[in-house]
Amino acid sequence: MSKPIQGEMMYEGKAKRLYATDDPNLTIMEYKDSFTAFNGEKRAEMTGKGRLNNAISAEIFEYIKENGVPLHFVEKLDELRQLAVRVKILPLEVVVRNITTGSIVKRLGVEEGKRLPRPLLEFYYKDDALGDPIVTEDHALLFGWATEADLAEIKKITLRVNELLQKLFEPLGIVLVDFKLEFGKDRDGRLILADEISPDTCRFWDSSTGDRLDKDRFRKDLGNVLGAYEEIWRRLSGRKK
Ligand code: TMP
Ligand code: ASP
Repeated sequence: MSKPIQGEMMYEGKAKRLYATDDPNLTIMEYKDSFTAFNGEKRAEMTGKGRLNNAISAEIFEYIKENGVPLHFVEKLDELRQLAVRVKILPLEVVVRNITTGSIVKRLGVEEGKRLPRPLLEFYYKDDALGDPIVTEDHALLFGWATEADLAEIKKITLRVNELLQKLFEPLGIVLVDFKLEFGKDRDGRLILADEISPDTCRFWDSSTGDRLDKDRFRKDLGNVLGAYEEIWRRLSGRKK
């Protein structure tokens, strides 16, 4: 495939910029060096973060694509950029939890660090002004954010991605605690996985030390934030394929 020509910026998010290309069906995602947490209240810039998330996310996308998950990711272009199929993002954040921590502990007062008997799936309405509130499937249906068929497909893909990610990370000594996915529709209306999968959007715990190897190091001021991202990249890129 000939290399796409980058066009104008279409959207700037907290962690990425999206650009048009000369192909209306494709977009370029550029990973930024910014960290944000708590709906953008806490911010920092760290040189190297964009490069690490691009590398990690591309490696994970390649692996799940090989395993048949429908995906917007096409290829990693360079240090900061990925080529992806242009999609219309559904306004839902889909969270899977294997172990209790984070907002579920705060919201429900359940014990921290407990492995759940099966993966717990949650939906959040993607709206910064509202602080991404948790919603039920019925909210998504009745307010037109997704159809019954979309929700069934989202659940199927999300649970499959959870299985694949655990299979990928377990041999690397990393526990997949929880993560967030976003979905979009391509020009034919097909539902596909979108956005990114990185230490920004997953919680990774070292299986022997319990060390946090993800954005919680930034959220909770644990220090050595980029060191944790580098460690994830070191283990992922060093694995035997
Ligand atoms: P939570 O415990 O804060 O709800 O987070 C659950 C998972 O979702 C965790 O892996 C981090 C990820 N996440 C995002 O990717 N973006 C967000 O805006 C939030 C709140 C969480
Ligand atoms: N992604 C959200 C923000 O940037 C929240 C988080 O990940 O903690 O504000």
